[in-house]
Amino acid sequence: MIQRPTVKEQVLQTLEERKGESVSGEMLAEQLGVSRTAVWKAINSLRDAGYTITAGTNRGYCLEEGNELLSAQGIRPFLDEKWIDVPIYTYKTLESTNKTAKQLALENAVHGTTVFSNRQTDGRGRLGRDFFSPDSTGIYMSVLLKPDFDITKSVLVTTAASVAVARAIEKLFDVECKIKWVNDIYIDNRKICGILTEAVTNFESGQIEYVVLGIGINCTPPSGGFPPEIRDIAGAICADPAEAAAFPRNNLAAELINQVLDIVENLPERAFIKEYRERSLVVGQEISVIRNGVPTPGKALYIDNDGALIVQLQKGGMQTLNSGEISIRLT
Ligand code: BTN
Repeated sequence: MIQRPTVKEQVLQTLEERKGESVSGEMLAEQLGVSRTAVWKAINSLRDAGYTITAGTNRGYCLEEGNELLSAQGIRPFLDEKWIDVPIYTYKTLESTNKTAKQLALENAVHGTTVFSNRQTDGRGRLGRDFFSPDSTGIYMSVLLKPDFDITKSVLVTTAASVAVARAIEKLFDVECKIKWVNDIYIDNRKICGILTEAVTNFESGQIEYVVLGIGINCTPPSGGFPPEIRDIAGAICADPAEAAAFPRNNLAAELINQVLDIVENLPERAFIKEYRERSLVVGQEISVIRNGVPTPGKALYIDNDGALIVQLQKGGMQTLNSGEISIRLT
């Protein structure tokens, strides 16, 4: 059943579309077909949720610029026409957006459904690790994909996703994104994004039922800094913690949806592989292949058309690394 947006959601939508401008309460009431008191209540409730909305006599309500709380209403104005209707869910706190996206998949959510949370209490990383997900300084999102291809192609989602994220970030910010195989995004040699892809397949047909693509991005450093265990590697798109409130998170969130859904549409053609190679941090580098905690030294030679990393091992022989239970360390 389609739920009608609440007055609060509709008021937010108009204010987000006209951010920085004054919108009269009378006009809002008329447009939404509700009383001015209902508009006033919605404004107060938005203020309680953390939005800075100023009001002046005869001027109306103004959602101040630099007031970046993630919301479907804040994200949608930046979506491409093609993806304008994708369902978007935003939460203050979730255990893990991947977990919620998997629940939505079981409830028949459609391709492109995206879940965001301002923080995660049990953010999951690759290889069973935790993913540090503090309040309001990152984007934690999961996109539900229901692609029309079999499991052999699904490995490409992981590779393609990192190119999509790099494109989205570079479209908005003056930075250069590199990719550390398989899909960690680095800026200035610091990891600013990790991606966790989880697929569910139909055992008999080999067809993918759905893929949950989880993306965690550090927009600005957390106020207390990164925890000691990741302090040497972690970074953020914008290095200044004071920029957190004004960071254009809604715009970036929308661009991530646009780029991910665009790239997934053309996945089997593998057009993105060339760009993936060009962005690689590891090709040509001395690395350690880590399996079950045991490092094996070698040199990263190239990335094949399936996104696998081909390594010349120091002890002799070659190894083809597919994403999964292996990680690498630059040496
Ligand atoms: C990694 O670097 O190991 C992958 C991290 C993936 C983190 C994202 S945050 C959104 C989504 N929800 C999760 O629990 N994990 C992914």
